[in-house]
Formats: sequence, structure tokens, C-alpha cells
Amino acid sequence: MPVAATGQMVRRAMAEGYAVPAINIVNDLTLEAVLAAAEELRSPMIVQTSVKTVRSVGLGVLKAMWDAMTVRISVPVALHLDHCPDRSVISDCLAAGWSSVLFDGHALSVEENERQCREVVAEARRYGADVEGEIEGIRGVEDGMGSDEEGAIQTLEVAVDFIRATGVDIFAPAIGNVHGMYRARPALDHQRISDLVRETGIPMALHGGTGLGPDQFSDLIARGCAKVNVSTALKLAYMDANREFLTGDPQAGDPPKLFDHVRMAVTEMARQHIRMFGAEGRA
Ligand code: 13P
Repeated sequence: MPVAATGQMVRRAMAEGYAVPAINIVNDLTLEAVLAAAEELRSPMIVQTSVKTVRSVGLGVLKAMWDAMTVRISVPVALHLDHCPDRSVISDCLAAGWSSVLFDGHALSVEENERQCREVVAEARRYGADVEGEIEGIRGVEDGMGSDEEGAIQTLEVAVDFIRATGVDIFAPAIGNVHGMYRARPALDHQRISDLVRETGIPMALHGGTGLGPDQFSDLIARGCAKVNVSTALKLAYMDANREFLTGDPQAGDPPKLFDHVRMAVTEMARQHIRMFGAEGRA
């Protein structure tokens, strides 16, 4: 039963120079597709759920789907709660068996974020779960979270103190990365990743994976971004495949055929990211 500890998977990836794909799913079909890509390419995988997905599918249904679909999986997979400022959702997911959570306290003062994040880490440890921390808003609105405004960037010292004081397993810095689509190739502060890893030794999470190029991934992964988040690419693959099938196929009246078509497109999207992150064959 290789449902794995997120922190352990990501630390191993950092040590071996690849990144674990962390892909946000939205329903049963996308969960199945992402797990199928991981199994086929022998890759570890972090399946992410936004708070919106937890609410729309329902925590109990989501966890039951996860349990049923991972019971026979033979690669390490983990279930992660993405950007969550709501402590009650964090508590519910930890109690239900999520492998890890991102406590997103970036809207709080750093002091209050740190105080609450320590509590989240203590709570997670009781379940053997891991925690990702964040002190800066990553630009772009995703699943109702975040803002299109440029947020404040903290100094290296503040970020390092936060990581040390909270004991988070993974840290998500803002380095010019954006949730959603990039309008132009972003200039990413890759030095900040090297500095944070040098000072703390913990792996970094690269948010805003959709639309970055293979050269940007390989540089940031080599510096310690051992978890790379991808959400928009899945939504695009899902919507495009639905549209393509419904506008082009004379058999479009048959839902299972539509599901197969969409599942294939989402699996292919996951395969491409597994390969780009160097995760193929690492299970
Ligand atoms: P994208 O939607 O840009 O892929 O970002 C995903 C993400 O960072 C989720 O936390």
C-alpha cells in the first residue's frame, strides 16, 4: 500500500535531483487519470485537492475515491490539501487521512502565520502528516483563492526564520511564479530557491507550474524545487477534450466514450509533466 508520506517523497526527490509532480484533480475521472499516468511511468505522485474541490466533491466522497483507487497502486502516491487558510478544513482533512496540507497564512502577518502554522504542524504530526508553509501570496486566482495583485515579498531572513520556527516540511516561496496562465515568459528568482535551500535544507514547492518551460523546470528542480504544482494544465486538458469530443464525434451521445476521451487527454497531460520533472522511473 504505497500511500506515502509527502515530505519523505519530496526529500528523496530533492536528494536525487527530480521533482514529484503535484497535480490538482477536480473529480473521480481526473484522479483516476493522474494515478494511471503515475503507475504507467513508475513515478511518484502527489495528488492535490483545492478547498473548492473538497467542498464540491465532498470530503468523505473524495477520501473514499482515493482509498478505492490507491488500494492496489504500486507507486508512491500522496494526497495533499492545496492552499488552505481555513483551519477547520485543515483539521477535517488531517483527521480524514490526507497525507499533507498547505497552510496558506500569507494574508496574515508573518507572526500570526507562524503562530498558527506551528499549531498546524503539531496537529499534522499527530496523524503522521506533513505541512507546506507559505508567507507570500503567489499571484493569480485559482479555485477562488489568491489575488491578481502583486503581493509583498519577505526577506530571506524572515522566510528562513519562519521555516525554522514552524518546522514545515516544504516551503512555497513567491519567485515571480503565477497561478494560471503566464502572459509572457516570467523572470523567476531562481537564486532565492538556492538561498532558501542552502539556509534551511528543506525542499521548495514550485507553484504555478502550468506554462513554464522545460529549461525553467530543470534549473529550479536542480536548485531544490522538488515538488512542482500543476493545476491549470489539467483543467485545460479536461475542458479541451470535452469540447473536442462533443463538437467532433458522431457518437457523442455515449457518455462513457466521452469519459474515455477525456481520461486519455488528462493522462497524457500528467505523463508530459512526469517526464519534464524527471520523475519517470523513480518509484
Ligand atoms: P497552475 O494552475 O499555474 O498550474 O498552478 C498550480 C498551483 O500552483 C497550485 O497550487
